[in-house]
Formats: sequence, structure tokens, C-alpha cells
Amino acid sequence: MKVNILFLSAAMCSQLALAAPPPVDPAMLELADQSRCLGCHDVDVTVRGPAWRDVAKRYRGKPEVEEVLVEKVYTGGGGVWGNDYMSSNKRAGKDNIRILVKWILTLPDS
Ligand code: HEC
Repeated sequence: MKVNILFLSAAMCSQLALAAPPPVDPAMLELADQSRCLGCHDVDVTVRGPAWRDVAKRYRGKPEVEEVLVEKVYTGGGGVWGNDYMSSNKRAGKDNIRILVKWILTLPDS
């Protein structure tokens, strides 16, 4: 009987896990907020800049882009997602930008 209950709750948990995507790390959102990214970006929605989940999808399996993206966010740039341009984010600092880019690249599809 005990085994059955365990099995049942495990089955229910896996259903829940399927229904809801893993929660977005609040510490990373806080850092993105402090780094003033969120005026132009959101994890799920394209604002001025692309949704960060779309960025992760585009570069999935291409770890070599990480440093290119860090440089681009730091100095600013455009031409990849549309006609808009990302202004430089030097005030955020390269270390914070690297932490954010690493995290963005690991975001799963929703
Ligand atoms: C002024 C608005 C703005 C701000 C602030 C901004 N971005 Fe962007 N971001 C954009 C736009 C617009 C693009 C698309 C650029 C392009 O098409 O090449 C973009 C693209 C990106 C990309 C993908 C680049 C590529 O070449 O695919 C990443 C990663 C990114 N932003 C991260 C960040 C992070 C991290 C911050 C905060 C430190 C930030 N952005 C702040 C507007 C912004």
C-alpha cells in the first residue's frame, strides 16, 4: 500500500513538472534588473530586444558564441534580430554581463 501511494505521488509530481516550465531564477532577474536590461528585454516576450528564451534557442549547441555575445552586450550592436540596435551596457560591467549571458544561454524552451 505504501509503495502504491509513493508511486502515485511520484506520478502526480511528474505531471506537474510537465505542466509548468521550471521557474526563472529570481537572483538572475534581480541582476538583470540592476544591470538595466529589463527595459528592453523579458525572458518570454520580445520587447525592444528579443525574448531571452529565443536567444537561448538560436544559439543552442553553440557555446563559442558566449564571448561574442558578452562583447556585443557590453559595447552594443545590431543587425541580428531586426532593425533595432542595442545601446552599450558598459555600466553593468563585463563580469555581470558574462553571468547574465551564461544564464540566458541555458534558458530552456517554454
Ligand atoms: C536599449 C535597449 C536594450 C538594453 C538596455 C539591452 N538590450 Fe539586449 N538587445 C537589444 C536589442 C534591440 C537587441 C537585438 C540586436 C540585434 O538585432 O542584433 C538585443 C540583443 C541582445 C542579445 C542577443 C544578441 C545577438 O547578437 O543575438 C543578448 C544576449 C542581449 N541583448 C542581452 C542583454 C543584456 C544582458 C542586457 C543588460 C546588461 C541588455 N541586453 C540590455 C536591446 C537592449
